[in-house]
Amino acid sequence: MARVSFAYGLSLFFMSVIPGAWLRTAEGAGLLSSDGTVAPTIFAEMSAAAVRTGAVNLGQGFPDEDGPAEVLEAARAAIASGANQYPPGRGVPDLLAAIAEHQQRFYGLSVDPGSEIVVTAGATEALTATILALIDGPDDEVVVFEPYYDSYAAAVALAGARLVTVPLRRGDFQPDLDRLAASVSDRTRIILVNDPHNPTGTVFSREVLDEVVRLASLHDAIIVTDEVYEHLAFHAPHTPIATLPGAAERTLTISSAGKTFSTTGWKIGWVHGPAALITAVLTVKQYLTYVNGSPFQPAVAVGLRLPDSYFADAAALLARKHGILADGLRAAGFDVSPPQGGYFTVADATRLGGEDAAAFCRALPERAGVVAIPLSAFVSPAHREQYSGLVRFAACKRIEVLEEAASRLASSSSR
Ligand SMILES: Cc1ncc(COP(=O)(O)O)c(C=O)c1O
Repeated sequence: MARVSFAYGLSLFFMSVIPGAWLRTAEGAGLLSSDGTVAPTIFAEMSAAAVRTGAVNLGQGFPDEDGPAEVLEAARAAIASGANQYPPGRGVPDLLAAIAEHQQRFYGLSVDPGSEIVVTAGATEALTATILALIDGPDDEVVVFEPYYDSYAAAVALAGARLVTVPLRRGDFQPDLDRLAASVSDRTRIILVNDPHNPTGTVFSREVLDEVVRLASLHDAIIVTDEVYEHLAFHAPHTPIATLPGAAERTLTISSAGKTFSTTGWKIGWVHGPAALITAVLTVKQYLTYVNGSPFQPAVAVGLRLPDSYFADAAALLARKHGILADGLRAAGFDVSPPQGGYFTVADATRLGGEDAAAFCRALPERAGVVAIPLSAFVSPAHREQYSGLVRFAACKRIEVLEEAASRLASSSSR
């Protein structure tokens, strides 16, 4: 009988393969190796390397500073006032109202808080519940841009559907429109777009967004957008796809409080869209987590109602941090692709001998005292070559941390 070894958790035990959807999930996420070993994610591996070596961790995207004081205080107050039991299945009414107000205020979108929104355990649950709800068999396809956030491939595999990837060009990280059109067909159930984009930091051009809507309409597909970096676009206000002509009726818009308010551990996300689609997502979501985060939900409502200056300042500060990181990376010999939004800067390590970015990143903690993630972690195995040499660095850290990382990288490259 085949055997699988688990390289994490109870690390040293072997057992017969346990059949189940988890296997294709591991495979979809690129964690199942040919010898049957289930590897830890690269994020876990690199975070462990940071702890072991004392390296500055620019791997995983979480801020190292607290978010707005009034939001944190609202969570404390909610606990003190007894918001400690199950909230309603769709979410706390005040948060539902705040999400609807936010979509109207920033984007002019009208959303009915009673029927068109569900609060979820982060954007991650919104994505997985949506994919599980809408996929109906192995011939269904989900089209994503590649590189892609790692949960997409795992969730599509869990749902038993096919992932169809459209490459983002090296350089501007926009897709080729003909390639996009060729990838969408009547088998396409979902076109999943993350904008601003992790890991590349790209913001998709209006042309690309229009083409997504055109193709979705032509093939009767649903557009699912992951907009967790909506308030961290640096050059122009964010454009939700749902605001494009003809899009709202077939779009589920997903976001989360984690990045906007530096509360990634609270796991408060949401999805909004037409009531019938939201009913489908809620039907699955209620048997995944049912509900979560009752004291955090009213606190996120406070955050969503903060003045415009909060959102503008957060984006400006993050852009400044990216600038510090980019200067350090250039001084160390990387070729930097400046991001247009989000937490991450992508840099090419080829000139530093890093054509194999995974090997380069594995050596970087010892070599330079810095942890980063190879872009290959966000690419299906067959396409890794196309993104060789590219490394993702998180800029969502304190300025002194970024300066320390920059100086370590510069001094390691001059040695
Ligand atoms: C593109 C993207 N989508 C979703 C998530 C997950 O969001 P959440 O923590 O709200 O589940 C992340 C987190 O890094 C992300 O980068």
